[in-house]
Formats: sequence, C-alpha cells, structure tokens
Amino acid sequence: MALLPILKFPDPKLHRVAKPVASVDDRIRQLVDDMIETMHDAEGVGLAATQVDVHERVIVMDTSETRDQPLVFINPELVARSEEMTFADEGCLSVPDTYDRVARHARVTVRALGRDGQSFEMEAEGLTSICIQHEMDHLVGRVFVEYLSPLKRDRIRTRMIKRARDAQRA
Ligand code: NI
Repeated sequence: MALLPILKFPDPKLHRVAKPVASVDDRIRQLVDDMIETMHDAEGVGLAATQVDVHERVIVMDTSETRDQPLVFINPELVARSEEMTFADEGCLSVPDTYDRVARHARVTVRALGRDGQSFEMEAEGLTSICIQHEMDHLVGRVFVEYLSPLKRDRIRTRMIKRARDAQRA
C-alpha cells in the first residue's frame, strides 16, 4: 500500500473526465487499496481517482464513525435520484479548509462494481448520498466550488494559489 499525492484545486488536471474501468484487475485493486489508505490518512470521507491523477471511474468512501468500513464504487452510475434536495456544508481533500453549502439529491441509488468486480446496487441517504454525488462529480471533472458564486470561487482560487506558493517557499 502507498499514500498517493492528492491534486489541489485549481490544478487543471482536476477537470479531466475519467474513463470507465475496462476490467477490475490487480492494477485497479492496488489503486483502490492505495486510495483507501490515502483517504483514511487524510481524514477524508471520500476520494475519487481523479484526485490522485488517475483518470478512471473509481471512487472510495468511508462515512462510518469508526473509519473502518470503506466502500468502493467502480464505474458508478446513478440509477435513481430523489426530487427532494438536501443542503450541507461540503469540503474536499483537493480544497483544504474550505467548506460551503451545496444542494444535492437527498437520496440516490447507485449501481457500480465492487473491488471484487461484482455489480451491486446501493440506496443511499444523508452523508453517504451527498458523498456519492460529490465524488461522482470529480469523475466528470467537477469540483464542488464550481457550485458556488463566481466571487466565492475566485476567492478560494486566490487563497489556494497563495497557499501553494507559501508551501513551496517553506
Ligand atoms: Ni472532493
């Protein structure tokens, strides 16, 4: 297992569109395991392959309080979404220390392949539903700050660029 570097907004690579995984082989299982380790190490609840500069449709999540129940979604598709919306402050490992309110479907049903390559369907609500939608956005190159006003987004962009520059100097 290995910790993978996480791309930070506004890195243009975060806007690449991921392609479907052709087969769940050893390479993909290794990627999944490394992503889970990286997510847990960074104390995140979700991570998309896009964020570790791998542009294939792979997501890992762990919304459990005990941080020991990772979920794996390979080639995820939403097969149902509630009309009812929910609003919560979201954060992202690619946009550290930034939290803001985003509208999401309250409930979704996702179909995906697991780490074992088997297809499964899952109904999700609450944080899990929000997280699935947030991570699936990453796979199409969308970062949550794009839902915010242009003014807020520009402020975040400026702060992140300054932060990267300070980190380089340090
Ligand atoms: Ni994110």
